[in-house]
Order: sequence, then structure tokens, then C-alpha cells
Amino acid sequence: MNLNLKKQKLIEVIKGILPNDIFLSSIEDCAPYGGDWTRLTGDPLLVFLPKTTEQVSLILKTCNELKIAVIPSGGRTGLSGGAVVINGEVVLCLSRMNKISSVDNLGRTIRVQAGAITEAVHEAAAKEGLLWPIDLASKGTCEVGGNLSTNAGGVKVIRYGMTRKWVSGLQIVLMNGDVIELNRGLEKNNTGYDLIQLLIGAEGTLAVITEATLKLVRLPQKEKVLFFSLSSLLAVSQLFEKARKGPFEILAFEFFSQRCLTAVITKLKRSSKLQKPSEFYVLMEIEMGLGTEPEVLLESWLEEVLAAHVVVDGLMSQSSAEKREIWGLREGITESISLTNEVRKYDTAVAVDKVVPFIEEAETLFHSMKLQSELYLFGHFGDGSPHLNIVRRDTVDHETFINECDIFEKELYLLLKKFGGSASAEHGVGLLKKSWVELSRTPQEMAIFRAIKTAFDPQHLLNPNKVFSLL
Ligand code: MLT
Ligand code: ZN
Repeated sequence: MNLNLKKQKLIEVIKGILPNDIFLSSIEDCAPYGGDWTRLTGDPLLVFLPKTTEQVSLILKTCNELKIAVIPSGGRTGLSGGAVVINGEVVLCLSRMNKISSVDNLGRTIRVQAGAITEAVHEAAAKEGLLWPIDLASKGTCEVGGNLSTNAGGVKVIRYGMTRKWVSGLQIVLMNGDVIELNRGLEKNNTGYDLIQLLIGAEGTLAVITEATLKLVRLPQKEKVLFFSLSSLLAVSQLFEKARKGPFEILAFEFFSQRCLTAVITKLKRSSKLQKPSEFYVLMEIEMGLGTEPEVLLESWLEEVLAAHVVVDGLMSQSSAEKREIWGLREGITESISLTNEVRKYDTAVAVDKVVPFIEEAETLFHSMKLQSELYLFGHFGDGSPHLNIVRRDTVDHETFINECDIFEKELYLLLKKFGGSASAEHGVGLLKKSWVELSRTPQEMAIFRAIKTAFDPQHLLNPNKVFSLL
């Protein structure tokens, strides 16, 4: 059946079983749902905007019977093309399913629908002095379903771990329309395979997540944000070593280069209180100890760092506004570098003790290739998750840029293999890293991936051709 016939047939069937306001069908109305933050985009066959799990179930069952492929989608803030339409698929957008139930204080959980905005979940939990500790620059737009499907990371992984640690229940819908409650919010459940963990990070290839029970933690009490300038990557790593032994809990340890800071300052009109330009910057958020005189302990730790000449300069937030100002410099990087230029993003992962040699070799590689584009370095130093972003200069045309990135990419991934790293630390594989998955996985693992995909979705209709190839 060609795409037009499929569309007609689907509309005909759906009109008989679901309300009319549940789908969009014109090319113009559907277009915004075809892409994500990668700027890749395609035309959806149809866009569904269900309000209930029953409707999701009917939509999937119908598409399964008609053999129509479906892409689950939410805030579309993905950076790997996981929600991008590539072959006239139907988009199933869960944004209207955004209910947030009240906090269960006894179990320290909150039940939410997949379309709930991450920041709205934070706000609901904060009313009870609690936190769902998934902290991403896109938190005002991204949705819980997407956080779960990509096992999102973010800036607090060093303290709390990835999204997968903060879930105790999932409601999912299979492609055949079956609705399943997984784990029912149990903290302990040792009865066989952990299907929740299989679903988290599956990028919508196995089933559609419709609801989740999220685990919460006490809001940190006495946080401070420290901002340092440093003269080298080695100094960043020395500071990290000292911080690991510091009299506080590290909540975030983020680094970025001078080039990143300049982009944020010039493109987003922000300012930095650290005046002298330096090679690198570190934003460190800490929770001070609750014992006696934590400030005194922090002061003497800072004195030690300064005396050892590890940092060039540093400052500590004195108010919430100052905290937000410093965070704005780090969180503005993505926006500032992609505002006007094309960007190729690499969210690499290596063991924490390999971050410095890996970045140094990657930088040397980049410069030895005499590429005309610019390299921006930033990311989650403390998690072993450096981001390498290549940005097109205005003087370089699109084709040259793509060519340069493709050449560099091959070499970068070989280097990553040498370091025993992974092609995606936190953004997921989607479309962009599909050819590089096998770099971090063995043939045996790939065979298991394929068998799992077929067990959940025998006709391979759910987010097809994403993450890995079935051949
Ligand atoms: C970040 O660390 O800011 C995010 O992963 C987004 C990005 O890499 O651009
Ligand atoms: Zn990141």
C-alpha cells in the first residue's frame, strides 16, 4: 500500500473509534512534529495527540493491524534524531498526557503521565521538599517520557546517577495495543527480568511509555555553586581530585572551554564575574555537610586549592540569583553555539580517569586534520562524559562542513574505541549514531538486541530504523 492509501485507510478506521480532535492530518499541521533539536526533519503520515492510555492502545493496535510504523514523541528536544520522521511514519505525541499526581510522601514517589514537563515534575516534588533529580538544560521543554526513553543524563549524574535509577513503575503499551503495568512501584521485586530497565533507554523501539512512578529524594539543603578558571585540562582534573576529597557532596562538576564561554557571553548577552580569560572553566555545585561549621571547612578547602595553584581564579555564589547566573553560563552553551551555525555533536563517554588523555588526543586529532570548523569542548567531566561539538564557521559552506565532520567522526570513534568508550553517554543513539553502536557493543550483544526487539514488536513497526539495524 502506498503512503497516501495508508493514510486514507488509517483515517477511515480511526474516525470510527476515536474523537476527531485526536489527530492532525494536513502537511502543515503535521510538519512541526517531524523533527527534533537536531534540525533533522521529515513529514509525518499523521500525528496523533492522545489524551488517555486507552486511546494510545487503540492507535497502536490499529497501526499494527494496518502495518503502519509509529514514532513515539514528546518534547522533541532530542539531540540524536530518535524522534525524527524518516519514512512517512505516524507520530504519536504524548504531550497532552501531562498529568502529575500528588506526591506519595511515604513511598517518596510521584506518579506522572509521559507528557509531563520535567520542570513541572520538579516543581510538584519541591512543594514537599523533594526532588526528581534529573536535571537537564532542556528541563522546561523536555518531557518525562523522553527522559525515560533516552535514559537522560544531565548535570547532576555525578551525585544521583542517570534517569534509570529514579523509576519504580512504568505503564507501557505494546505495538499490539496491550497495556502493561511494570513493577507497580515496588522498591523490591526479584521475580525475573527487570523489564523497566529494558524499556528505559530503548528510545521508543520496544513499547510506548504512558505513565511512570518516579522515585524522589530529599531536596539538597545547603548548596553552593563555585566557579573556577583554570589554565589546562590537567588542572581541571587536579581540581576534581581535590573536590572528591572535599568536605562536601559534589552535585555537579562541569567543565567548558574559553571558546564556549565567549559564545554564551556574545550570543546570549550574558556576563561572567571571572574577568581574566582562561583555557578552561569549572562549575562545581556542592551540598555542604550538615555537621558543625561546614562553611569553615569549605573555606579551608578553598584555601588549600588556591595555595596549590590548581586554579587561576574562583568565586562562590552568594545568592540564588548568583547561582542561576553562573549556571546560565554553562546551560547556555548548547543554545549559543547552535543559534546561527550548524553543529555536529559528539556526546562521548570514557572512564573518568581517561577524560583528560581522551580529550587531549581528540583535540590533537582535530587540529592535525587542519579542519576549517571550530571545536567546542564542554560537558560532564565528573561523569566521564565530555561533549565535543564541531561548529561550522560562516566562511565554510554546508557541504565542506559535512565532509569535514564525516572525516573527523571516523577517526574520533576509532580513538573512542581505543579508550574503551561509548559513542553515546546520554543523548542516545537515535539516527545519528546508529552506525557507531557496534563500536561499543559486541556481536553477541547486538544479536540479543535484535531478539528483544522482535519479541516486543514482531512486525518492527515501532520507531523503525533507529538505534540499530535489524540485519
Ligand atoms: C549538555 O550537556 O548541555 C547537554 O547534553 C546538551 C548538549 O550536549 O548540547
Ligand atoms: Zn550533556
